[in-house]
Amino acid sequence: MEILRYKNANIHFSSQGKGRAIVLLHGFLENISMWDDIILALSKKYRVISIDLLGHGKSENIGYIHSMEDQALMIKFVLDALNLSRYVLIGHSMGGYVGLAFAEHFTDNIKGLCLMNSTPLADSPEKKINRERAIEAVKINYKTFIRMAVPNLFAPYNLLKFKDEVNIVVEQALQMQPQGIIGSLEGMKLRKDRVNELKKLKVPTQLIIGQNDGAIDIELTLESIENTSTEIIIFPDGHMSPIENKSELIETLEHFVKKCYS
Ligand code: MLT
Repeated sequence: MEILRYKNANIHFSSQGKGRAIVLLHGFLENISMWDDIILALSKKYRVISIDLLGHGKSENIGYIHSMEDQALMIKFVLDALNLSRYVLIGHSMGGYVGLAFAEHFTDNIKGLCLMNSTPLADSPEKKINRERAIEAVKINYKTFIRMAVPNLFAPYNLLKFKDEVNIVVEQALQMQPQGIIGSLEGMKLRKDRVNELKKLKVPTQLIIGQNDGAIDIELTLESIENTSTEIIIFPDGHMSPIENKSELIETLEHFVKKCYS
């Protein structure tokens, strides 16, 4: 585990393995430990960098709002500090929104972009209202918010099967400061639609969907990239493919990264 100072905040990241680079970006309420098994697999052939996003894990806050661009600039700072100029980005959910913002601003640096349980669409008006409600709930009691929000990320029929994993995600999210949670809710609420930015990318792109993911509008997302070169992979379960569909996911990512670097 390593730490860099960025805008007066500690930024926590890890770098494992040698070779061409892969950058892993976790989702909302998560941190780099969600990638442990995926890093184990991918770092056999690649250098795998994973970064705690602003206000998550052991990375500190830099403002009241953490926009997707704020996160992307922080990531560029870390990757520049590591002297890396070409990498494949893999983002889980909010990490995918950040990956898209990164790809828009630093297109020449990326060799491929995988959006996992994510979408290039902006929040719908209804979702923006839900974000406002979530922010109020966090202000009242962020622990209750986390205990309700995390299980909703799993397919309902998987809650028993992955009981221990759900508890681990909850316990880790409870280490966050409420401001880190609010910063990301605000940032996700104001993020723009990046369907066109995704379409413009000339490197391999991939969208991984969980068929029973309640956090993403699957139909609209698939519609938005119809007839584009983005490869679509559909898993049977929920929003937490790194847990609910781990082995298939690892195989899919190995294949995707190989394509990006071929
Ligand atoms: C995430 O897992 O990062 C979030 O559920 C994404 C979102 O709320 O849009």
